[in-house]
Amino acid sequence: MLAAAASNAAANLGLSRASGDASRNCEADNRLAWKSYVGFRHAGCLTRVAESPQRRFRSGQIEREQCLKSRRQCGKIVCTTANVARGRFYLNVTGFPFPLNPLAFRRTVRTEVDPGSIWFFEQEQGLAGTNVTTNVRMTVIKLKSGGLWVHAPIAPTEECVRLIKELGEPVKYIVLTTYAYEHKVFVSPFARKFPKAQVWVAPGLWSYPIPLPVEAFGIFKAGTIKDDATETPWQDEIEHKVLESSPVGSVPGIGPYVELAFFHKASKSLLVTDAVIRVPDTPPEVIRKEALLDSARNGVVVSLRSGGKPIPDFKLFPGSNRIDDTEENRLLGWQRMLLLGLYFGPSDLLDPQESFRAIAGRLLVSPVVRTLVFTKIPDEALDWADRIVKDWRFQRVITCHLDSPIATSPREFRACFAFLEELVPGRRKKGLLDFFKAKTQNTGFVEEDFATLKGLDAFLVNLGVVPKPGPRN
Ligand SMILES: [Fe+2]
Repeated sequence: MLAAAASNAAANLGLSRASGDASRNCEADNRLAWKSYVGFRHAGCLTRVAESPQRRFRSGQIEREQCLKSRRQCGKIVCTTANVARGRFYLNVTGFPFPLNPLAFRRTVRTEVDPGSIWFFEQEQGLAGTNVTTNVRMTVIKLKSGGLWVHAPIAPTEECVRLIKELGEPVKYIVLTTYAYEHKVFVSPFARKFPKAQVWVAPGLWSYPIPLPVEAFGIFKAGTIKDDATETPWQDEIEHKVLESSPVGSVPGIGPYVELAFFHKASKSLLVTDAVIRVPDTPPEVIRKEALLDSARNGVVVSLRSGGKPIPDFKLFPGSNRIDDTEENRLLGWQRMLLLGLYFGPSDLLDPQESFRAIAGRLLVSPVVRTLVFTKIPDEALDWADRIVKDWRFQRVITCHLDSPIATSPREFRACFAFLEELVPGRRKKGLLDFFKAKTQNTGFVEEDFATLKGLDAFLVNLGVVPKPGPRN
């Protein structure tokens, strides 16, 4: 069944086409390669690993680069075969208004953050049909009381599940930390891979445009984490605070902004989902070089956001615009896709260095969350941040996207929210905070980069979909 699904996916993606005499042979071999994954004989279309392909498939030793070298004989299918063999297949074509990328194959990268205690699991995540992609992170903490505590689960591919099981501890708790679809969608399939684990969820979950209970997503929770008073089984090691705002929309169906913050006492780590980010100078490891190079091409999107400058080497269709695989082009692609993701329409994609440098390397609320969400609930977001810094002496922040862990302090974290004080009369605080503001949220942006977000916000306000910035009451 998996092979059939995988074959269908490959056919849908156009990956099984081949041409030439060698390719005809490979087409037959490809079919066998698919079968090899479910236990049939493999004929060995990968010439470089032909001596013992099945054994190497199972042990996951076929590298993507090796597969690419075999393209002459096999076409793109060899890469897909390697992905399947490494357990990266995961079909997901859902998401509103854009399906989430990748649609079929996800690589998982595990990083040991604190030896024997905290691990990151990262996959690629983007918007289908665009060049916008980033990393999504699941954090796994080994509890002193035994078992694994999983924060914001990602797609449970075979590779991902294998990497978790290699830790040698049972998954005990799975935590849904937010209402956001990108993190909610994988909770149910993840929980099915670890049926003995308890699923705990944030309160106030909602979906749009169709309001569905969380059970409709296949999430059968053991408990809801409401706020300080909620007794969680891991309370002695990890505390929590809830941001559950009033609805961020003015129309029925658009519910509150919901995010859980956790404090892991042993490591002095604050865990959040989307509230803050830090942009790395270089792309996260899980982002494919093909995506980076696509983003570096001067196509239609770049021409629309070029700051009025002429576009060199412009081609209407990306495939007709060859680009060299160089470090410089990968970085250009990273800067462009990052700015598109954070601003939707930054001021200058042709030469994005100034805009990128303005936000890279510092803790901040992302421009999207800042403009479209937190300005609608400034007092509630400020209260949440105040409670976090009042009670927890954390030394680093762990987020679900981009850089992590991020060395910081409660004061610097709080300063990220200082821009909201302008919207709430009586909340303005002066003092040491002003020093950190200069490093974080209130200065340093390229103001023109916000034009698209502010235009979108004004459009939605005029439609009556969202309220104007400021407190709701
Ligand atoms: Fe997110």
